[in-house]
Amino acid sequence: MFKDNLLENKRILITGGGTGLGKEMATHFAMHGAELYICGRRENVLSETAVEISETYGTKVNYQTLDIRASKDVDDYIEFIFEKGPLDGLVNNAAGNFISPTKDLSHKGFDAIANIVFHGTFYMTHSVGKRWIELGHKGSIVNILTTWIWTGSPYVVPSAMSKSGIHAMTQSLAAEWGKYGIKINGIAPGPFPTKGAWERLNPDNNDDGMTNTVPLGRVGEMEELQNLATFLMADGCDYLTGQTIGLDGGQYLTGGGTFSQLDKLSDEDWENMRKLIREANNKDKADRS
Ligand code: HXC
Repeated sequence: MFKDNLLENKRILITGGGTGLGKEMATHFAMHGAELYICGRRENVLSETAVEISETYGTKVNYQTLDIRASKDVDDYIEFIFEKGPLDGLVNNAAGNFISPTKDLSHKGFDAIANIVFHGTFYMTHSVGKRWIELGHKGSIVNILTTWIWTGSPYVVPSAMSKSGIHAMTQSLAAEWGKYGIKINGIAPGPFPTKGAWERLNPDNNDDGMTNTVPLGRVGEMEELQNLATFLMADGCDYLTGQTIGLDGGQYLTGGGTFSQLDKLSDEDWENMRKLIREANNKDKADRS
């Protein structure tokens, strides 16, 4: 879809880049020539991913163990990177989530998610953004959100609240930092199965339950996410900022529509419906004449 060297000379940091969606995006950036920085809490998966990507694409992949909840560690890490040269892109992908009835959550459970998603994403964005502004260096930030920022969602309330906050940050900083050449956008993926997310959001492997509200009738393909993330990281669309793009096969649009359930009707059901409506129309017309 893109030129092989689209991201050449770009240095991109992907939080949570050792696994899941983060690894997929990192791989695609490397395929298009970017130098990578990946961070996360588990050294083993980071080092495996770094070796795998650099051996496959011949690009440099730097990794660092980091818990983005620790604000000083975040700032130290970003300082360490910028001492070698500025980043050009940041993907705020690291997240934490699990399904639970909200009444059963402990405050510590709420904090575990909010501290990663809400606080950690801000720390990272702030540490990178302030250095870009200081250096007069332009950059692109992509936040991995969810469609719950528009609809809310039961059973994942700490995540829905935190991601909504980051959506507000996306819009706010697009307006505040546009003058510095910083663009900031979000991607709101629908169901893209990964080990980490599916173990916590779909623990009984009920894939039908995850896809029966998707008009396209399927989960997302990684390449679709990779392409959008690469597009947002590339030059050539700097006017696009402050936007969160839903990438969910139209799933969230079905949730609020009064008639979404009609999606399940067969042709025969529709024929029957039409007959019933015509009967009602004809009866009204007869009453009027
Ligand atoms: C209730 C739970 C729980 C569960 C953890 N807790 N899991 N409570 N139900 N299933 C509670 C614990 O009991 C504890 O509270 C508190 O949360 C902290 O738990 P820890 O395990 O000590 O926390 P920590 O090691 O910091 O782990 C953070 C985490 C974990 C968020 C809880 O799930 C994690 O590390 N996740 C990272 C990967 C991940 O979540 N990926 C999915 C992202 S998907 P108490 O009070 O008992 O001490 C996503 C959106 C996808 O973001 C959208 C798809 C459509």
